Order: sequence, then structure tokens, then C-alpha cells
Amino acid sequence: MFRISYLSTANQAFSSGDLSELLQKARARNNAAHVTGMLVHSDGDFLQVLEGEPEDVIGVYDRISVDPRHRDVSLLQRGLGFGDRLFPNWSMGFMRVPDQTLVDEVVGVNSRVKLRYLDAMSALDFLLACSRSQT
Ligand SMILES: Cc1cc2nc3c(=O)[nH]c(=O)nc-3n(C[C@H](O)[C@H](O)[C@H](O)COP(=O)(O)O)c2cc1C
Repeated sequence: MFRISYLSTANQAFSSGDLSELLQKARARNNAAHVTGMLVHSDGDFLQVLEGEPEDVIGVYDRISVDPRHRDVSLLQRGLGFGDRLFPNWSMGFMRVPDQTLVDEVVGVNSRVKLRYLDAMSALDFLLACSRSQT
């Protein structure tokens, strides 16, 4: 199982309509490529994890990384993960975290969510906590 996670900054304000359109297309494409994962949007930043077969995940990421709707796409993790998928039930899970949310409300750490401050491991923990709170 191969995994890529990255952070980026939105180039535009995303309304709920923009996000659901993006997700609908992303889910259809990910389904077809057997790619699963989770996307979080907070305070103008995106955090996303993609998992599946290496060529599928890389193919999806290559398209995402040149999407003009976001910038400063920085890779957090890229490589083979141990064991099975961490997000098996989501062609792309999604959570919008309101700007002033305390991480405490999601993962039990008492500070404000700022996706850009997360390192690769905390980012994965955060994405997992978000995906669990969605089921
Ligand atoms: C933050 C963000 C996350 C995205 N996630 C996915 C995704 O998981 N899967 C996907 O196929 N496209 C995703 N997209 C859309 C792709 O960037 C791209 O628009 C889409 O795959 C269509 O590519 P094409 O126009 O080259 O055909 C995402 C875009 C953004 C801005």
C-alpha cells in the first residue's frame, strides 16, 4: 500500500458548493483508480492523504499538484505504508474544520488547528481522527 500526503494553500475561497463539486469529481476518479483517502480544509489550507497502488496514487497526485485552485503544494509523506489502507471506506473523505476550532475537539490536543504546522506523523493522526469522526 502506497501513500502520499501533502499540504497546500487555496488560491480562492471555496464555498460549500465549490467543495462538493470538487469532491464529487474527485470521488468518481478515485473510485475508478481504487484510490482512497481523506481531505481536510481549514483556514485556507488543504491537507490530503491518498492511498492505493503506487502508479494510481502518483497519477492522481500529479494531477492535483498542478491544479490552479491551490498553491505551495508541499509533500509530507510519499512511500510504501505498512499494512492495509488506513482510509478503506473513503474514495475521498472530507471535513471542513472551522478556522477557530481547537484540535482538542478532534484529536485531544489543546491548540488551534493550523494545518501548516503539522508534521507528517501528526498530519496523518489528524486525518485519521477526522475520518473517524465522520463515520
Ligand atoms: C485540494 C484538492 C484536492 C483534490 N483531490 C482530488 C482527488 O482526490 N482525486 C482527483 O481525481 N482529483 C482531485 N482534485 C482535482 C484535480 O486537481 C483535477 O482537477 C482533477 O483530477 C481533473 O484533472 P484534469 O482536469 O487534468 O482531468 C483535487 C483538487 C484540489 C484543489
